Amino acid sequence: MKLFITENYDEMSELGARITASVVTLKPDCVLGLATGSTPDGMYSALARKCDAGELDFSKVVTYNLDEYYPIKPDNDQSYRYFMDKHLFDLINIDKANTHVLNGTVEDPAAECAAYDEAIEAAGGIDLQVLGIGVNGHIGFNEPDSELIAATHLTGLTESTIEANSRFFESANDVPRHALTMGLAPIMKAKKILILISGKNKHEALMGLLSGKITPSNPATMLAMHSDVTVICDKAAYEG
Ligand code: F6R
Repeated sequence: MKLFITENYDEMSELGARITASVVTLKPDCVLGLATGSTPDGMYSALARKCDAGELDFSKVVTYNLDEYYPIKPDNDQSYRYFMDKHLFDLINIDKANTHVLNGTVEDPAAECAAYDEAIEAAGGIDLQVLGIGVNGHIGFNEPDSELIAATHLTGLTESTIEANSRFFESANDVPRHALTMGLAPIMKAKKILILISGKNKHEALMGLLSGKITPSNPATMLAMHSDVTVICDKAAYEG
């Protein structure tokens, strides 16, 4: 596991963008696994600037997002499809047909999730998986539990996640109670993993990740078993 500690959020975002850009440069038709949320937002802006400056070409890049609330319509401004369009896809020269987000409107979530895993495999797997981390150590919406699920699946959100994500909604009552999430198998099968971690409130989850001890009470600790993980955290997250 490679660890970079940056001065602040902006430096974390710039470094994350440089690493992601290098993957796209080396393999223009690469498959990126992407996250939503406050953490990767700065990195997405930096990638959009590079694309705007003609330094980066996303025209052949394929993306698979980690998760989506369930149920939710894609045009709801709290959906992760909406977030990705607004914060990245509409700002770069990507072909929207190549961008994939789990569909939060399907009647059969199990079929949607199975098809998503098959599509990732058919695309040749994920070259670079970008992750954030929950205050409780979740990655995607793989929440702490006594058992973790390998395949992409429908999951309930924990109180901690509902509370953390309520900042984007009018109230905690409006946060959907379920989500579709990539399971740990497609995440762990990614060739490279880049995890961005910012802020004091992520300190405990980060320390768990760096400890090398694996526990389902902090799902991110699974990453200790992956051979190519880069952690970029800011000082606030590292020092707590
Ligand atoms: C989002 C996702 C989540 C977030 C995590 C941190 O697609 O998979 O695991 O990465 O909840 O969210 P932020 O970055 O908003 O603190």
